Amino acid sequence: MALRLVMASDHGGFALKEDLKKALASADVLITDLGVHEESSVDYPDLAHALCDTILDGEADLGLLVCGTGIGMSMAANRHPGIRAALCTDPYMSRMAREHNDANVLCLGGRVIGPSLAENIVREFLDGNYEGGRHARRIDKIDLR
Ligand code: RB5
Repeated sequence: MALRLVMASDHGGFALKEDLKKALASADVLITDLGVHEESSVDYPDLAHALCDTILDGEADLGLLVCGTGIGMSMAANRHPGIRAALCTDPYMSRMAREHNDANVLCLGGRVIGPSLAENIVREFLDGNYEGGRHARRIDKIDLR
């Protein structure tokens, strides 16, 4: 079965989200776009929470959140137990986010990186597989008791 990717952005990430949707159209990925569908101003936590709920409900495997910097989206997403959101600015980070941190959400800043770099970051994220082993113990320690 194709990997199910859910994506969402605020107005600051809208243009990059649209670029990435086009770039990934030919990839073996099933894309759900939760919006926004135009550039008018919205509050990024609303989109982040909707995307996290989609993943936690089992309706998507991985998520992509884009805002101006990626910072607000990552803060909001990481409030959800079971979501591990990684704000990445290069392809090595996104590959490691999957392989070592078992990240299930990638956050990008639409005002920080260009579309070609962003596409490479996303492709590494999608291609990476969680390695488990010693990393599982560390991930277990992330959540505060
Ligand atoms: C919106 O102007 C901007 O604050 C938002 O896109 C994001 O960068 C927040 O972290």
